[in-house]
Amino acid sequence: MKTLIVYSSRDGQTRKIAGHIADRLGGTCDLVDLADIGKTPVNDYQRVLIGAAIRYGHHAAGLKPFIDRNLAWLNRVPSAFFSVNLTARKAEKRSPETNAYSRKFLASTPWRPDRCAVFAGALRYPQYPWYDRIMIQLIMRMTGGETDSSKEIEYTDWHQVDDFADDFAALLDKTPVA
Ligand SMILES: Cc1cc2nc3c(=O)[nH]c(=O)nc-3n(C[C@H](O)[C@H](O)[C@H](O)COP(=O)(O)O)c2cc1C
Repeated sequence: MKTLIVYSSRDGQTRKIAGHIADRLGGTCDLVDLADIGKTPVNDYQRVLIGAAIRYGHHAAGLKPFIDRNLAWLNRVPSAFFSVNLTARKAEKRSPETNAYSRKFLASTPWRPDRCAVFAGALRYPQYPWYDRIMIQLIMRMTGGETDSSKEIEYTDWHQVDDFADDFAALLDKTPVA
């Protein structure tokens, strides 16, 4: 079974999570950056996983058009979605129902992924340009998070990622047998 994993990542954490899931799934897994999805022949794949990071309240602008273009296929094959953000560093905001970004996304899309997850991302102050560093520091101050701008913290719960990958692997082909 060929699996397509599409990710959208600016600072690498979503890419890292997608790669980790690909390793865990094994078999033929193609990892494609949403920005390079271009003419990828999606119909060649029997399973799809999409992962997207949140920046300033939004997933990548290209996510919705990709879903709209490929909606019939997305709703036909086994599919899953995960969102990566820092709100999810708090355990009570780490599920599709309790995380505002994923809740909003799922309510706004006609795609019905079979599985959804929200993963905590990474905070990497030294890697951010000054404007982003100040903005993230402000958000962290307002939400009781880390404000020390020398810090790099990975909040991702890799056990949660593994469980999600295993759950996704167990999805049966939804295509009815002729
Ligand atoms: C400029 C910037 C804006 C961000 N905005 C948000 C946000 O609005 N809400 C949130 O929960 N996390 C936000 N984050 C945290 C990211 O979602 C988190 O760092 C994630 O790991 C980034 O994924 P990536 O490395 O795949 O790009 C932001 C991070 C950056 C650098």
